[in-house]
Amino acid sequence: MSDTRKAIENEHANRVREMFATIAVRYDLLNHLLSGQMDKRWRRLVAKRLRQSLGVGQVKILDVACGTGDLSLELFETIKARVVGTDFCRPMLDIAAKKFARDQSAIPLIEGDALRLPFLDCSFDGVTIAFGLRNLSDVERGLSELLRVLKPGGSLAVLEFSKPVIPGFSFLFKAYFTRLLPLVGGLLSGSKRAYRYLPDSVSRFPDQKELAETMQRAGFDRVQFQNLTGGIAALHLGMRPH
Ligand SMILES: C[S@@+](CC[C@H](N)C(=O)[O-])C[C@H]1O[C@@H](n2cnc3c(N)ncnc32)[C@H](O)[C@@H]1O
Repeated sequence: MSDTRKAIENEHANRVREMFATIAVRYDLLNHLLSGQMDKRWRRLVAKRLRQSLGVGQVKILDVACGTGDLSLELFETIKARVVGTDFCRPMLDIAAKKFARDQSAIPLIEGDALRLPFLDCSFDGVTIAFGLRNLSDVERGLSELLRVLKPGGSLAVLEFSKPVIPGFSFLFKAYFTRLLPLVGGLLSGSKRAYRYLPDSVSRFPDQKELAETMQRAGFDRVQFQNLTGGIAALHLGMRPH
């Protein structure tokens, strides 16, 4: 990678890390409030779908960009798996650690960058990333890195905001997401920038079909997706070929 490219990537990573550090304390509250609690249902579905492909117990799952750990907990409870959470933002991990201690959930947390995961090749039966992929400076390289740490036959689940697919609803949602949400999120979190960044980053992110194609290009097999709540979000699943 050229020095210029590296510098651009580092700058992007620093900006994203600082932004999440600023909103870490309010992150959970705002997530549940601004999504009308839908985020909880979406994460529960990720765990259920992974349980279908991996079974229960005796599996090792990596939750990348785990943030405050809600998906890690859901995987731990639903799949009874050995779950490891990783994220590059210490204040988000601190909140996850407190939550896990309170629930007595044995989920190790490791500080690390999703583009350079601190794990050996073929280490996990399952890898998840929820609302994290969109934040990476290079989505395709991020997917290749997730593929690298998966065992052959292992499953990837990507939960991410997507493009609403119901015309009238799509219009209303856009108004909410680009106008009301940045206003309320900015006021309650104290970071206008973070809640302007949210709709901006979603608008730059590939839609459902494009993401499925990107996953295939990155080397995943049996790629499929499911629209959630009219396509506000989507769950993409893929498998590392044997
Ligand atoms: C919107 S939050 C999602 C957190 C959690 N997965 C959830 O479902 O609520 C995005 C998270 O991605 C993390 N993140 C962004 N870029 C990252 C990177 N390159 N490496 C590791 N973590 C990253 C941020 O620190 C933040 O905690």
